[in-house]
Amino acid sequence: MSIARRTMTKKAALVPARHVIWFGWKLVIILSVSLCVFALCRLHFKSDVSSSASSFYRPRSRISRRSFQFAGPPKIAFLFLVRKDLPLDFLWGSFFENADVENFLIFIHSAPGFEFDKTTTRSHFFYGRQLKNSIQVVWGESSMIEAERLLLSAALEDPANQRFVLLSDSCVPLYNFSYIYSYLMASPRSFVDSFVDTKEERYNQKMSPIIRKQKWRKGSQWITLVRSHAKVIVDDEVIFPVFQKHCKRAIPPDASKGKLNAKQKEQNNCIPDEHYVQTLLSMAELEGELERRTLTYTVWNQSATKMESKGWHPITFAYANAGRQNIREIKDINHVYYESEYRTEWCRTNSTSVSCFLFARKFSRGAAVRLLSEGVVGPFDASALLATSN
Ligand SMILES: *[C@@H]1O[C@H](CO)[C@@H](O)[C@H](O)[C@H]1NC(C)=O
Ligand SMILES: *[C@@H]1O[C@H](CO)[C@@H](O)[C@H](O)[C@H]1NC(C)=O
Ligand SMILES: *[C@@H]1O[C@H](CO)[C@@H](O)[C@H](O)[C@H]1NC(C)=O
Repeated sequence: MSIARRTMTKKAALVPARHVIWFGWKLVIILSVSLCVFALCRLHFKSDVSSSASSFYRPRSRISRRSFQFAGPPKIAFLFLVRKDLPLDFLWGSFFENADVENFLIFIHSAPGFEFDKTTTRSHFFYGRQLKNSIQVVWGESSMIEAERLLLSAALEDPANQRFVLLSDSCVPLYNFSYIYSYLMASPRSFVDSFVDTKEERYNQKMSPIIRKQKWRKGSQWITLVRSHAKVIVDDEVIFPVFQKHCKRAIPPDASKGKLNAKQKEQNNCIPDEHYVQTLLSMAELEGELERRTLTYTVWNQSATKMESKGWHPITFAYANAGRQNIREIKDINHVYYESEYRTEWCRTNSTSVSCFLFARKFSRGAAVRLLSEGVVGPFDASALLATSN
């Protein structure tokens, strides 16, 4: 009995033991299957995200910026990229005088060491707004796009900044602040002049395969961005180094003699600031989120030949051609034609038809004085005019 019992118990004990082992295996199998499914899901999700970028380019967030929480109204960040001072500060001063200080912030990238204070600018809005980490910029070289990135990076620190407007020292506003604010805030898209560059051979084969030729774009440097696109540019660690290395200005013809001409022919005359943002956003598959036009009006002097300049030069507006009628004509423009793409860009903000341009360049001081006296940026402010005659 005791033997039988023992075998019984042994048998009885064996059965649950087998069950336990089987259950263990089942658990292991279930666990591994679910791990596989989870991993597959993650892979799929990841490829979903990165398939929106080219295989070589993945936008990455280096710094997690607080982008969702901010008190008060959304702001426009005005980013001035200047050589030294702001010659048209009296006009911009009047422009900002007619704005609510809660609605904007100013950032300036000027030569390292240059300070904006009461000895260097007529408008208090610019005091202390120079970036502390500014760099020496060589016009037409990649230091220019580095400076743009520094401006965007500084402006991104404040989560209230929702639109980012890049301006030069010869840019003027064509409207008052409230008009520009509503126009920009209404648009969920960035304004980036961007088109397929078929005429000029600025693309350098050495950029391949990181930058493929199909993604190469050209356009005006003067852009207005929404926050997510500003982040893409600041976080880019892939495309910028390629530009630094392979997008360079050719030596100007007058500086080269004899032998240099052959070398010059091999060089692509590449102007980084006319390609970088456009090409980066095209590579990140973000062109669908753009109004593909600039907000800054420029007239090109077509009579300047290729020999004497490396292309056309913008015409400078002087007092004489900055009158009411001239400005009216710019404001009446409601579409832009892109020859290389046979594309007509009808100007819109959030699907509403609008005039194309909010800003213009290049304006002399005299031309800016005229805008001010005609009340373009707000009620005519004689004190701002008086300040200019100092
Ligand atoms: C700003 O300009 C717009 C359009 O030019 C005008 O309708 C509006 O009254 C102006 N606003 C202010 C505050 O001056
Ligand atoms: C954009 O347009 C839509 C439809 O007309 C409107 O509902 C929305 O409020 C507009 N957005 C802004 C930011 O003005
Ligand atoms: C256009 O360029 C030509 C040649 O450089 C120059 O002589 C002319 O003054 C320029 N015109 C304007 C309006 O700037």
